[in-house]
Amino acid sequence: MKQIQMQDTYIKKIKNMQKNKKYSILTMGCQLNENDSERISGILEEAGYEKTEDLSCANIIVFNTCCVRENAEDRLFGKLGEVKKYKEKNGCIIAIGGCMMQEKHMQRKIKESYQFVDIIFGPHTLKNFPEDLYKSIIENKKIEDILDIDGEIIEGIPTVREDKIKASVTIMNGCNNFCTYCIVPYVRGRERSRHPQDIYNEVVNLAKQGYKEITLLGQNVNSYLVSEKSKGEDVNFIVKEENGNEYEVNSFATLLRLINKIKGIERIRFISPHPKDFTDDVIDSIRDSKKVCKLIHLPLQSGSTEILKSMNRKYTKEEYLNLVKKIKSKIPEVEFSTDIIVGFPGETEKDFEDTLDVVSKVKYEQIYMFIYSRRVGTKADKMENQIDEDIKHERFERLKKLAENIIEEKNKTYVGKEELVLVEGKSKTNKQMYTGRTQTNKVVNFEGGSKQMIGKVLPMKIISEHMWYLKGKIC
Ligand code: SAH
Ligand code: SF4
Ligand code: F3S
Repeated sequence: MKQIQMQDTYIKKIKNMQKNKKYSILTMGCQLNENDSERISGILEEAGYEKTEDLSCANIIVFNTCCVRENAEDRLFGKLGEVKKYKEKNGCIIAIGGCMMQEKHMQRKIKESYQFVDIIFGPHTLKNFPEDLYKSIIENKKIEDILDIDGEIIEGIPTVREDKIKASVTIMNGCNNFCTYCIVPYVRGRERSRHPQDIYNEVVNLAKQGYKEITLLGQNVNSYLVSEKSKGEDVNFIVKEENGNEYEVNSFATLLRLINKIKGIERIRFISPHPKDFTDDVIDSIRDSKKVCKLIHLPLQSGSTEILKSMNRKYTKEEYLNLVKKIKSKIPEVEFSTDIIVGFPGETEKDFEDTLDVVSKVKYEQIYMFIYSRRVGTKADKMENQIDEDIKHERFERLKKLAENIIEEKNKTYVGKEELVLVEGKSKTNKQMYTGRTQTNKVVNFEGGSKQMIGKVLPMKIISEHMWYLKGKIC
C-alpha cells in the first residue's frame, strides 16, 4: 500500500509537469502481458497522458515485450528501428518493459546497441513505473529498473481496459513447472497467488462497470494457492461477499465457485490450466458453475510420451487422453482447445504421429500451434538432437492441415443449432454485420445487430459456417 501511495505522488508530479501529452503502447506477449499493459496504460492515463495509435506523435512509447519465442523478440527489434526516427525528431521517451527485459543478454543488447532507449523495466518492477518515468523526464538519464528476485504482488495499480465487455483478471504470477523448452519460469519467477478477496473485489467492480465476460489468468491457474500451501501457509481464506455472506476459498476450484456467484457476470473463462493439476474438484466446479464456459484450454504440447518426458510435462499420452475422457464423462457438452509445439529436440516421425493421433482423437475446437524455438538458458536449448528447420516446418504444415480439417468438420455440426452468443460489437471485417462469440469461443457474425445488443447474450440460429467464423440469425 505504502509503495502505491509513493508512486501516486510521482503520478501527480508528472501530471502537473506538462499538458496534452500522448502515449503509445505496443504489447508483444500473452494475455498476462496484455493485462500488464492495461496497468501501464492505467498509470499513464492517471498521469495525464492520452492514448494514440500514431507513434510519430507520442511523447512516450512503451514496449511490453515477450520472449517466449524468437519471433516475439524479432518484432521488438523491427519496431525499435522505426521509433528511433521519432525519438530523433521529437525527443519522445522510449521505455521497454516486459519479460524480455528479465533476460541478461537482452538487457545487454539494448544497452549496447539501442542507446536511445530511456527506460528498461521488468514485470516485477512495473509498479515503479511512475517513479522511473518521472526520473527519466526530470533527470534526463537512463533508467534501468530490473529485479532478479520474484516481485511481490502489488494491489491497487490503476488499470485502463480497452474492451468494455470482456476483461482479464490475473489471479497468479509466475510458474514453477520448468517445462524444458520454456523461458517463462526464468523471467516471471515463482508462483505467487493473489488474495481471493482482491480477485473477488476486482471482478465485482468489473461487473458493476458492465463487463460480462471474465478470463482468469495465470501460467498455471489450477495450481492457484498450491505453492503457498506447500510452504505451509494458511490458505483457508474467508472472502466477504457483497451480500455480507462469507465464503471459504482455498483452491482454484473454490475460487471458480466464488466468481460464478458474482451478479452481472455472464461468462467465466480461464487460461492456462496444466493437465497434471487438473484435479476432480476443478472438474466438478466447472460442471457445477453455470457461468464457467465449457471450453477448456488443455495444453497438450506433444502427444508423445517420450517427448512429454523430455519436456518435463509430468503426464503421458495415455494420462492426457484419460483426463479428456474423465472430463467428458462428467461434462458431456465440453469442448477443448490446446497448445502444441512441433519440432522439439529429438522428436521423431513416430513422436509427431502421436501428436497427430491425440489431435484426431480429442478433436479440438482450436489449436494454437508453435514451431519449437530455442530459448537461451533453458534445458532444451542444450539438447543435442535439435530438429532441422525444414522438418519442423513440414510437420507444422501437416498439423495445420489436420487442425483445419477438424475445425471445418466441427463447424458443420453448428449449422442448424441454436447457440447463445455474447454480442461484442460491429464486425471488424464487415461493417454491415455485428459479431459475438459462443461459449465455445466461436466467432458468430450476424445481420440486424444494433448498439443496444452489445453486451447481451442472445440466442441465435447458426445458418452457415466459414473457416474462421459462423454466420448466425437472431432467433
Ligand atoms: N503456461 C501456459 C502457457 C505458456 S506460453 C501453459 O503452460 O500452457 C504459451 C505457449 O507457448 C505454450 O503453451 C507453448 O505451447 C508455447 N511455447 C512456450 N515455449 C516455447 C518455445 N520455446 N518454442 C515454441 N513454443 C513455445
Ligand atoms: Fe512454460 Fe510450462 Fe510454465 Fe507453461 S507450465 S509457463 S509452458 S514452464
Ligand atoms: Fe511472453 Fe512473458 Fe507471456 S514471455 S508469453 S509475455 S509471460
